[in-house]
Amino acid sequence: MRRLRVKSSAGGYDVIVGRGAWRALRGLRGYSSTFILTEPGLWKHWGRRFSRDAGLPGASPLLVPAGESSKSLPWAGRVASELLERGADRRSMLIAFGGGVVGDLGGFVASTYMRGIDYVQAPTTILAQVDSSMGGKTAVNIRAMKNLVGTICAPRLVVSDPRVLASMTPRAFRSGLYEVVKHGILSGPGLFGWLEKILPGLRVSNAALLETLVVRAAQVKVDVVSRDEREAALRHVLNLGHTFGHAIEEATGYRRYLHGEAVAWGLLMVIRLAELAGRLDPANGKRMARLVRAVGPLPAVAGVREERVLGLLTRDKKAVGGKVLWILPERIGKVCETSDVPREAVARAFREVQRGEWNG
Ligand SMILES: NC(=O)c1ccc[n+]([C@@H]2O[C@H](COP(=O)([O-])OP(=O)(O)OC[C@H]3O[C@@H](n4cnc5c(N)ncnc54)[C@H](O)[C@@H]3O)[C@@H](O)[C@H]2O)c1
Ligand SMILES: [Zn+2]
Repeated sequence: MRRLRVKSSAGGYDVIVGRGAWRALRGLRGYSSTFILTEPGLWKHWGRRFSRDAGLPGASPLLVPAGESSKSLPWAGRVASELLERGADRRSMLIAFGGGVVGDLGGFVASTYMRGIDYVQAPTTILAQVDSSMGGKTAVNIRAMKNLVGTICAPRLVVSDPRVLASMTPRAFRSGLYEVVKHGILSGPGLFGWLEKILPGLRVSNAALLETLVVRAAQVKVDVVSRDEREAALRHVLNLGHTFGHAIEEATGYRRYLHGEAVAWGLLMVIRLAELAGRLDPANGKRMARLVRAVGPLPAVAGVREERVLGLLTRDKKAVGGKVLWILPERIGKVCETSDVPREAVARAFREVQRGEWNG
């Protein structure tokens, strides 16, 4: 078990990672009542063990349907109403037990319910354990715009038990691992080299190895958000691979790829872009691309329309005045931020990766 510490303007909080991490919830006292927000399938599978470990036996959770569409204002309203009906007051606490969707929705409701109550993140997907549960960003989607309305509000505690990942589908599991690869590129040769060794043989059933992986990848996020809670500049680096990735997700109506898969394509494209822009040595680019590929098969990106993706790039939330802010890998452990990238290079990077003309 490991305890990581996030520094935040509100004083900071612990991220507890490891088998048995949920038991740390027993130490949270002084609340008038505790509520759990989760999804039906997840609760059916893990609810009994979670409530026993958390010291909340017999808990009856608030349920939202699985999937991104629950991250909405109507669902935030329903959850808040149910909290009220069940007697939640200003000194109640909410635990978000689920992936990034439940985490973002739960954080959003908690940070606004009666102007804010404490909440805990108990993440259950790889993406949530290494990324979304930390940093205090909460949000709901408004129509097509993801995360349009949200808050920044630190959780009281994050408890990540990697054993819960055992029930993920292989595809969802791989999707989360692409984000771990991103963290490897951001972090440096230590984590990157270790991932090169272990990723090809990693199985969800290998709990000890998964625990180390979550600890090491979560540490990257902890380091970034501890230095920059409000995303002035540093937090941008977490966007590596996401500029192309978001555009690919949007161009395909959020149906064809899981988020991490779109990010994987985005990583390959931005690696190639960095090479074309003369910022990345091809030998390093090759190593990075190889690590992306080591996670496993990706659904093909053929057929995604180039003009549509290129058009969407400037609509990225990080774009300023129509200029795309690129996060380019320069070497393992170093990225740069620049808007100075020729449009032809962007189109070429997309095309070469899409057509399989460049494979790293
Ligand atoms: N707040 C942040 O800083 C931040 C950062 C990155 C992403 N996000 C958000 O996170 C969301 C994506 O998160 P996600 O990938 O965890 O998606 P998700 O929460 O939708 O979970 C993915 C799928 O896995 C299922 N699931 C969850 N835990 C499981 C388990 N242990 N076993 C089996 N199935 C399980 C869910 O039902 C769902 O179908 C997006 O909405 C994104 O915007 C937020
Ligand atoms: Zn992501």
